[in-house]
Amino acid sequence: MLNDVEVLFSAQEVQKRVKEMGNQITRDYQGEELLVAGILKGAFIFMADLVRNIDGMVNIDFMDVSSYGASTETSGEVRIMKDLEGSIEGRHVLIVEDIVDTGLTLHYILSVLRQRNPKSLEVCTLLDKPSRRQSEVVAKYKGFAIPDKFVVGYGLDYAERYRNLPGVYVLKPEIYSKRLNNG
Ligand code: IMP
Ligand code: MG
Repeated sequence: MLNDVEVLFSAQEVQKRVKEMGNQITRDYQGEELLVAGILKGAFIFMADLVRNIDGMVNIDFMDVSSYGASTETSGEVRIMKDLEGSIEGRHVLIVEDIVDTGLTLHYILSVLRQRNPKSLEVCTLLDKPSRRQSEVVAKYKGFAIPDKFVVGYGLDYAERYRNLPGVYVLKPEIYSKRLNNG
C-alpha cells in the first residue's frame, strides 16, 4: 500500500494540526453544546481524532451523501443516502468534511441544513483544494490547503482503498491511471 503513494503530510503532522483545530474549536464554543456532524465515509478518521481534541460538551451525528457521476469528480447533483438522526433546530452545528474540492457537495449540504434552522452552522475540513472551487463555500476551520492533486489516506479513498493509511498521501500517477480491480 505504502509503495503506491508519496507522503504529503505525515501522521505526526496531521495529528499536530488536528490538535490545533480542536483547541480553536474548544475556545470558539466555550460554554456551548456542539453537535459535530461528520460526512461519511471520508470524515470518519478525522472526526474521531478531532472530537478527542475538543474539550467541551459534544454530540455527534453522521450524514452520508453521494454524488452522481464519475468516481473522482463531483457532478454537483447530490443525494442524501443517510440523513442526520437528530433535529438540528436551535443547535450549534459543526459539519466535518475530509476535503473540499469543487465545493459542490458542501454547498448542497449547507443549503439543506440551513433550512432546518440551526443556531449556528459552520464547516471544519481537514483539506482544502481552493484551485478547484466551483461553488463559494466557506469553511471556518481548515487543516491544510493543498494543490490540485488526488490524495488518499486518513479516511480519504481511491476506489475505496487507502482510507486506513495514517497520514495524507498523493497517489502515484501509475496507480491513479491504472484501473483497479474491484475492491
Ligand atoms: P466536492 O463536491 O468536489 O467538493 O467533493 C468533495 C468530495 O469529493 C470529498 O468529500 C471526497 O469524498 C471527494 N474528493 C475530492 N477530492 C478528493 C481527493 O483528492 N481524494 C479523495 N477524495 C476526494
Ligand atoms: Mg467524501
